[in-house]
Amino acid sequence: MDTGFTSRRAVQTDAAFLGDMLVEAANWRAGGARPRHEVLTSSEHRRYLAGWKRTADDGVVAVDRDDAPIGAAWYRTLPQDDAGFGFIGVAVPELIIGVHPLWRARGVGRSLLRDVVGLAAAQGYARISLSVERDNFARNLYRAEGFTVVSETAHRATMARSTR
Ligand SMILES: CC(C)(COP(=O)(O)OP(=O)(O)OC[C@H]1O[C@@H](n2cnc3c(N)ncnc32)[C@H](O)[C@@H]1OP(=O)(O)O)[C@@H](O)C(=O)NCCC(=O)NCCS
Repeated sequence: MDTGFTSRRAVQTDAAFLGDMLVEAANWRAGGARPRHEVLTSSEHRRYLAGWKRTADDGVVAVDRDDAPIGAAWYRTLPQDDAGFGFIGVAVPELIIGVHPLWRARGVGRSLLRDVVGLAAAQGYARISLSVERDNFARNLYRAEGFTVVSETAHRATMARSTR
């Protein structure tokens, strides 16, 4: 089946596009419109991308037929004293995912999720985690892809899965 997109490994020069996708993830709620600069410099989000691509960072970028990026999923390990929303442990990378609005609900997110879990496995990580707000439909996607809830607050869930 021709889906109209393919994916490739994320590289250092993808930083600006990954920034776009981080903004999409932060603004997932309809009407969410935190300005790009504010998201990328905020204490809760900057840790997911600052200094990309560090040694242990990795990810995948989905591209359309013209090689234009349309979505990305990447992960990084964070230290305990700078833990992200989905922190489980220093040896468990946390993933971030976003798809360009025009490309949503066409299988890009599921494909990226599978690819990034495979990448983490290939890099020797046994588990991978993420954080999702409880009312984000993406939670169903993660569950369908083998993620289970590790902990929850009133608004957020931390989910993880084995990479095998
Ligand atoms: C979440 C996101 C990455 C999913 O990527 P996507 O390409 O839209 O998802 P897919 O097309 O692979 O769909 C995956 C599943 O979710 C369902 N889905 C997609 N969009 C949906 C929507 N708006 N509402 C409910 N379900 C939806 C699909 O039906 C599919 O399930 P199915 O295969 O059983 O039909 C993407 O929508 C996105 O970037 N959203 C905004 C940012 C965000 O929320 N990021 C995650 C923060 S934790």
